[in-house]
Amino acid sequence: MQLDRFFEALWFDFVRIAPQAAAIKARLEELGERVENDHVAFRTFDRSPVDLATLEPRLLELGYQPLEDYAFPDKHLRARAYTRQGAPRIFLSELLRAELSTGAQTLLQRCVDAIPHGAGGSAQIFHQGRLWPALPFADYERLASESEYAGWLCALGLRPNHFTVSLNAMQKLRTVEAILEFVERAGYKVNAAGGRVKGSATIGLEQGSTLADRVAVDFADGTHTVPTCYYEFALRHRIAGGELYPGFVTDSASRIFESTDRAAR
Ligand code: NI
Repeated sequence: MQLDRFFEALWFDFVRIAPQAAAIKARLEELGERVENDHVAFRTFDRSPVDLATLEPRLLELGYQPLEDYAFPDKHLRARAYTRQGAPRIFLSELLRAELSTGAQTLLQRCVDAIPHGAGGSAQIFHQGRLWPALPFADYERLASESEYAGWLCALGLRPNHFTVSLNAMQKLRTVEAILEFVERAGYKVNAAGGRVKGSATIGLEQGSTLADRVAVDFADGTHTVPTCYYEFALRHRIAGGELYPGFVTDSASRIFESTDRAAR
């Protein structure tokens, strides 16, 4: 699959449930900014037909190379970043299901058991959404109360969790705080967990994000409004050797994950 068509399909799916991102991108373009993506992030289940190991070959086929692994023990996740020259980075995380309670594991296993074998055989998997029957809303709430990530994944499935605007490509809004203020003036909320700006120039990466849109999603017993997807902003700094910091920072990413928390405000 051609890379630009892959990203077009991802963006098309993403803005359907995160209309804020399309609106913010349009505002930035009105300002004369060039909107380039730093990275796109996905969430999935471990030990499943769509786990990280099964999806990785799809990224390699698109010309990506693994960059680095990350661990989020308190969120029961692990992740791997991928890079490709001239393309947005990809951040792929998976839920370590065995670390959750027996009750949560039972609910998650029902989702995993419904995933068609071979589902991970095409790059289109990255915008297929839910590959299992809709859950009752009470099950979603039970899962989310134990792991916001698990609740989100069961409700929304395989799709971009967020796109990230590269501030390195910007002319006017050149800091994370500047773009967060711009976004707020446009009427969108900002994720303040762990501070509005995560990371630092010294670390090499500064990030911020909106709070996820809230959109009506189908559950087994009707539609309910839940947090969906958000827009992130990243500024990379030069590190020793003069190159831009290439990877991710777990402390920052951990708080960025919270952009989809039900209680986030
Ligand atoms: Ni991100």
